Amino acid sequence: MSLAIELQAPTAEDGMSVYELVQNCPPLDTNSAYCNLLQCSHFADTSVAAALHGDDGESQLVGFISGYILPGKPDTLFIWQVAVSDKARGQGLASKMIQHILQRPNCAQVRFIETTITESNGASWALFERAAKSLNTELNRSVMFEKQQHFKGEHDTEMLVRIGPFSR
Ligand SMILES: CC(C)(COP(=O)(O)OP(=O)(O)OC[C@H]1O[C@@H](n2cnc3c(N)ncnc32)[C@H](O)[C@@H]1OP(=O)(O)O)[C@@H](O)C(=O)NCCC(=O)NCCS
Repeated sequence: MSLAIELQAPTAEDGMSVYELVQNCPPLDTNSAYCNLLQCSHFADTSVAAALHGDDGESQLVGFISGYILPGKPDTLFIWQVAVSDKARGQGLASKMIQHILQRPNCAQVRFIETTITESNGASWALFERAAKSLNTELNRSVMFEKQQHFKGEHDTEMLVRIGPFSR
């Protein structure tokens, strides 16, 4: 069944819902509520909120991507986190949210996407491999934050994924 989902830039009013959604989307690291509020305000132009509208007029946040343009690299969109609630998975929502951000006027110069993924996050690899295919370009990987060197052994290595160049 396809759901009535609307994609929009987030506002600060979405901040706490983002906090709750991320909590319900392991293995994502939760951030502070304050961090989510900044994502929904300072980084709203490169982030997206997916709202599911119910028959009762209520809406619920079922998807979120936090992203930003890399400082000093206006051609690169960095995707920080992607979260889709259980009920909305497997329908292409995460892929649609990435495309939605790329279509914004402030992403007109973007030719690369970067993100980081741990080796064991199969769903995330599948999502970004799909994005590279859809954009008809390649995906390269390298180590960004290493388990011992950067996390003192407390977190798995985060692989840097770079997708591009692409044009739209
Ligand atoms: C990863 C996640 C965002 C995917 O959301 P989604 O809306 O279900 O993803 P999509 O439907 O757009 O799928 C995109 C691609 O990934 C694949 N995929 C999605 N979930 C998958 C899974 N669990 N295992 C294998 N492949 C998966 C899809 O098959 C699709 O590929 P295809 O088009 O080649 O078939 C969602 O499962 C989630 O929130 N997981 C928990 C948080 C997380 O790990 N986030 C990613 C880290 S940034």
